[in-house]
Amino acid sequence: MDIEQLLAGRADMVDAELASLLIDIKPPELGAAVGYAIASKGKRIRPALVTLAAEAVGGKAEDASFAAASIELIHSSSLVLDDVIDKSDKRRGRETIHKKWGTDLALLTVQILAALSLKIASRDPRLMNAIADSLFYMGEGEAMELVDYATDKKSYIDLAFRKTGCLFGSAAEVGSLVGGGDARQVASLRECGNHIGIAFQVRDDILDCISKENELGKPVRKDLFMGRPSIVVIDALNSGISLDTMMKCNNGELMHIVSESIARAEELARSEVELAKSHISILDESIAKSKLEELGDFIISRSK
Ligand code: IPE
Ligand code: IPE
Ligand code: MG
Ligand code: MG
Repeated sequence: MDIEQLLAGRADMVDAELASLLIDIKPPELGAAVGYAIASKGKRIRPALVTLAAEAVGGKAEDASFAAASIELIHSSSLVLDDVIDKSDKRRGRETIHKKWGTDLALLTVQILAALSLKIASRDPRLMNAIADSLFYMGEGEAMELVDYATDKKSYIDLAFRKTGCLFGSAAEVGSLVGGGDARQVASLRECGNHIGIAFQVRDDILDCISKENELGKPVRKDLFMGRPSIVVIDALNSGISLDTMMKCNNGELMHIVSESIARAEELARSEVELAKSHISILDESIAKSKLEELGDFIISRSK
């Protein structure tokens, strides 16, 4: 089975969990916005990580599907909030929640999605700490984007860990907890997730520069125009390319003038994935372990 088939199968498991949540949210306007957020399906990469981590320690994917749903809800909630902050019009190929229902209802959707996540996670209280960590760090990460925090590779990695890596780490952690992993296995899978997540964010930054809106399902060159700390833009600025020069470029020209920064970002993504793999070298060989390694490789070569 290739990785895209695996993602589709794990997505179905999570969708079955999420479908049961949509009953009785009042008022109907809020119910509609929450339903829209849940029905807009992304790549469902974090649920795949949860279930693979469970299997990598000897558990069953099905038994971890509730934990996968909980993590995906935190992710969805963070996207609704991120789109408000970034003033983005498009997500997953559709209009964003704040564009359709306004900022107030979007913020309330964020709260409801997080509440639904906690509700599901509370089926196994051991998951609560990992979820709380992610909510906390993602708040810090988003705030770091608004101030002049990440100006070099080191501070960028710190930001990318908070914004994105931590939730991938939590995904691997909750999966391995539900799967019955011991403390050493859980810690190594968490580290693995953290680094896969950092690599994921680096690839997201690259795609922001090289992709097209209709392929990504969200606006491109947004990092540059919103002044967001993308690793490509940070590296280009540190190589002496001015913001003004970058902003005057069209898509093709931008890719050309920052090509060396893109190459260095690709190298960073590869090294983060290698780090991720090294953290799970202590696990026994299994199909799930090799799929986790494949997931890392897929994440840094993906085109959406
Ligand atoms: C987007 O995450 C936000 C980042 C952390 C870069 P995804 O690219 O996983 O979003 P969906 O779930 O597939 O829409
Ligand atoms: C968002 O990062 C990460 C979150 C925690 C939501 P980005 O701002 O780069 O995500 P996109 O590009 O809007 O999906
Ligand atoms: Mg954004
Ligand atoms: Mg982005």
